[in-house]
Amino acid sequence: MELKTLTVIPTYNELEALPVVIERLRAAQPEVHVLVVDDNSPDGTGELADRLSHEDEKIHVLHRKGKGGLGAAYIAGFTWGMERDYDVLVEMDADCSHQPEQLGRLLEAVERGADLAIGSRYVPGGKTVNWPWHRQFLSRGANFYAQTMLGTDVRDITAGYRAFRRGTLERLDLETIDSVGYCFQIDLGWRAELAGLTITEVPITFVEREVGDSKMDSGVILESMTKVARWGLGARAKTLCNKLRAVRATA
Ligand code: GDD
Ligand code: MN
Repeated sequence: MELKTLTVIPTYNELEALPVVIERLRAAQPEVHVLVVDDNSPDGTGELADRLSHEDEKIHVLHRKGKGGLGAAYIAGFTWGMERDYDVLVEMDADCSHQPEQLGRLLEAVERGADLAIGSRYVPGGKTVNWPWHRQFLSRGANFYAQTMLGTDVRDITAGYRAFRRGTLERLDLETIDSVGYCFQIDLGWRAELAGLTITEVPITFVEREVGDSKMDSGVILESMTKVARWGLGARAKTLCNKLRAVRATA
């Protein structure tokens, strides 16, 4: 039986990019539904999404009051999708950095049993195209930082191209997530790993956007750095406490 799939696309000022990504996605995966989660973009992305949705019953729109961050937008989108019984929920950027033509790779991984499939730039076969050196540096640095602090095995834990089995999201306690920005990606990946779920990284080619601007800023970076440090230290403190308890029990 085919899995009912919803691709959630968060948008903030993506007027030029959105129609392109949606057209490519609808062509590449005609059965997959789309949910645009727009944070009241001043450039009119939300109105454009409404027009696209009127023309195509597989396109849906969720309007939020204002720019509330990538993580908050995804939580709202996932909640919407889970209420409507989708089996698989996909994360995809609006700017075609995540090529819709490669979504099949992620969905196949889920069909083969992955609880979470991550479109990865840093496994063999994965790459980035046209990404400026400072963004590559930042992304490699963020992954190195997360691997060191958390001890995660995921090569691309900041990646934003993902497919979740519905049950995976149900197990990750979305209501307790307070990661507002892009840190949300690390948060979900780390939670999935701690829960012992099957994470499969599939290689993708990440292509830098040709229109519009990135919303990455220093707030996003700071949130990730402080949160990841806190989670890493918390996990180490927990291990230490357990060891001490074990020693005391045998003494
Ligand atoms: N609704 C909403 N609200 N959407 C947002 C917000 C927000 O506050 N902030 C960003 N977005 C949307 C953008 O409109 C876009 O569709 C997507 O989130 C990704 O934003 P970009 O600004 O294009 O991200 P990037 O290219 O700098 O970062 C990419 O790499 C990061 C590091 O690997 C993305 O793939 C990130 O997901 C990834 O963490
Ligand atoms: Mn982008």
